[in-house]
Amino acid sequence: MSNTWFIKDKLFTKYLSSEEIQNSVRSLAARINQDMTDKNPVFIVVLNGAFIFAADLLKKVRVDCEIVFVKLSSYSGTQSTGNVLEVMGLDISLKNRHVIIIEDIVDTGLTLHRFLDKVRAMEPADVRIASCLLKPDAFKMDYSIDYLCFSIPNEFVVGYGLDYDGLGRNSADIYKILNT
Ligand code: XMP
Ligand code: MG
Repeated sequence: MSNTWFIKDKLFTKYLSSEEIQNSVRSLAARINQDMTDKNPVFIVVLNGAFIFAADLLKKVRVDCEIVFVKLSSYSGTQSTGNVLEVMGLDISLKNRHVIIIEDIVDTGLTLHRFLDKVRAMEPADVRIASCLLKPDAFKMDYSIDYLCFSIPNEFVVGYGLDYDGLGRNSADIYKILNT
């Protein structure tokens, strides 16, 4: 595939190759395998964006584990309480379990911050976060990303599960928006 990609009205340029991504995913999986030995973790995959990263990562995870999927949607509440996070699909008890949340990208960190509150309320033994990407310049929260493939600049990216207006998820490489 060429180094530039026109999606809808925007031009993107190749930023992280499939090979670079796979190498990073492999070392992340090795760390998880080491850390989670005999811990029987529960992986919570955040849909939609994390589906490709999660599939690649989990194929390399060798410890016994469970995998569940959630869909998060934030919307403005009808009252002045602000944004409400709705969690769909978390139908398993997390009490005393070792939990690893799998995300595609952490930007401001707000979505995960709200989801973390809900997960912690379910009294797990431990909660960790695995994310393919982090935008450190946008990240405003005080939790840490325990397993991270890449820190990236504060620019819009697509591919490897990430979309621009619904398009671009089906790319093995990650592309970054070209500011013209
Ligand atoms: P935060 O951490 O700010 O991120 O709550 C919320 C969600 O925003 C999406 N996001 C992106 N999606 N390219 C995308 O395709 C990006 O560069 C990007 N930055 C943030 C993503 O769904 C994340 O979960
Ligand atoms: Mg996401």
